[in-house]
Amino acid sequence: MANFFSNLLSRPSQSVLGIDIGSSSIKMVQLSRKGGHPVLETYGELALGPYAGKGVGESTNLPIEKIIEAVSDMIREKEVNITTKLCGLAIPFSSSLMVVIDMPLMTKGQLDQMVPIEARKYVPVPISEVTLDWYIIPKDKNSELDPVPAEVGAPATPTQKVEVLVVALHNDTINRYKDIVTKSSLDANFFEIEIFSTMRSVLDQEIAPVLIIDMGATTTKLYIVEKGILRSSHMINRGSQNITNELSKSLGISLEDAEYLKREKGIQGEINGIKIENIVDITLNYIFSEANQILLAYQKKYNRNISKVMLVGGGSALKGIADVAKNSFQTEVVAGDPFGKVVAPAFLEKVLKDTGPEFAVAVGVALRRLQEVN
Ligand SMILES: Nc1ncnc2c1ncn2[C@@H]1O[C@H](COP(=O)(O)OP(=O)(O)OP(=O)(O)O)[C@@H](O)[C@H]1O
Ligand SMILES: [Mg+2]
Repeated sequence: MANFFSNLLSRPSQSVLGIDIGSSSIKMVQLSRKGGHPVLETYGELALGPYAGKGVGESTNLPIEKIIEAVSDMIREKEVNITTKLCGLAIPFSSSLMVVIDMPLMTKGQLDQMVPIEARKYVPVPISEVTLDWYIIPKDKNSELDPVPAEVGAPATPTQKVEVLVVALHNDTINRYKDIVTKSSLDANFFEIEIFSTMRSVLDQEIAPVLIIDMGATTTKLYIVEKGILRSSHMINRGSQNITNELSKSLGISLEDAEYLKREKGIQGEINGIKIENIVDITLNYIFSEANQILLAYQKKYNRNISKVMLVGGGSALKGIADVAKNSFQTEVVAGDPFGKVVAPAFLEKVLKDTGPEFAVAVGVALRRLQEVN
C-alpha cells in the first residue's frame, strides 16, 4: 500500500510550457511537477535577429507572421525538444497600460462599475477597445489584500480612499497573441503581462519593498513590489541594445562584433586606449539614475526603504553590472534566480544561475500554467 501511494505521488504531472516573446529572443521553459515540486524538463532561447536580417542578440520589431514562424521553429527544434502544447504566454509590459487611481472607499460591486468609468480618463483609446483588469492596493503594511467592506452598510467616510491598480490591454494586442497561439498550434489558457510572471519566479515572500529591474534588449522595466503586491511600474526606453550600439559607434566596429565584445568583456578592458567601461556607462548611468529617482520617490512617498534591487533580463548578464548597480543604489543588489524555484539536475546549477535572469519571465509563466494541471 505504501508503495502504491509513493508511486502515485511521484508520478510526474503533465508538462507545461512558459513562453516569453521578447524583442531580441523567444524564451521557452518546460516544466512538470513531481512529488509536489516543479521540475525543469527543458528550456531554450531563439534569437529573433536573424528573422529580421539582423544579428543574434539584436532587438527587432517583427510582423506577426515572422513571430509565428519563429515560435513554430522553436517548438520543432530538436535540441530543445519541447514535448507539450499546454502553455501560457507573457505579454510585454510595453503593450499594456497600468495606472494607479484613487477611488473613494466603496463595495467591490460598486468598484466593478466605477473603475471602468474612471479608467476612461487615463486610457487614450475608447474603453470598448481595451480589456481591463484591476485590483486594490492594500492600504498599509498590515491590511489584507482587499480592504473593501463586503457589503454596503459599512459606511465609509468621504475622505477614505483606496488605491486601485488598473491594467488595460488593447484588444488588438490580445488578438495578436491569440493568433500566434492558434497558428503555432499551441494550447494557451492565459496571457499575462510579463511583470506578474517575473514576480512569481523571482520573489520569495519578501516583506520589505523590492525593486526589480528587467533589463531587456530594447527597454528596461522597473517594478516595485511590496509583500507580493505590485506597487509601481515604469519603463525606460533604453536597454542592452543601446550598449551594443554605443560600443559599435565609439569603437568603429560592426554591431555583431560589438555584441560579441559586450558579452565577452562586460564592462572591463580597453580597446585602442578607450576604456570599455566609459562607453557602457553611458547607458548604465542613464538607466540606473532613472531607476534611482523612482526608488527615492517611492521611499519618500511611502516612507519605507527599498530593501534590495533585483536584476533580471539578458542585459543583467553583463559582467560587472552588479558593482555598478551597487554604487548607484547604495543598497543590496542581487541577481534574480528564477530556476531556484525548480528542481534541476545538479550539473546544470552553474549555467542556470548565470542564464537564469534572462528566463525570469518564461519560468514565471510556466509556473502559473503548472498550477493548473494535475
Ligand atoms: N552575457 C551577456 N552579457 C551582456 N549582455 C547580454 C548577455 N546575454 C545577453 N545580453 C543582452 O541582453 C539582451 C537580451 O535580453 P532579454 O533576452 O532579456 O531581452 P528581450 O526580452 O528580448 O528584450 P525586451 O524585454 O526589451 O523585449 C540583448 O541586448 C543581449 O545583448
Ligand atoms: Mg524581455
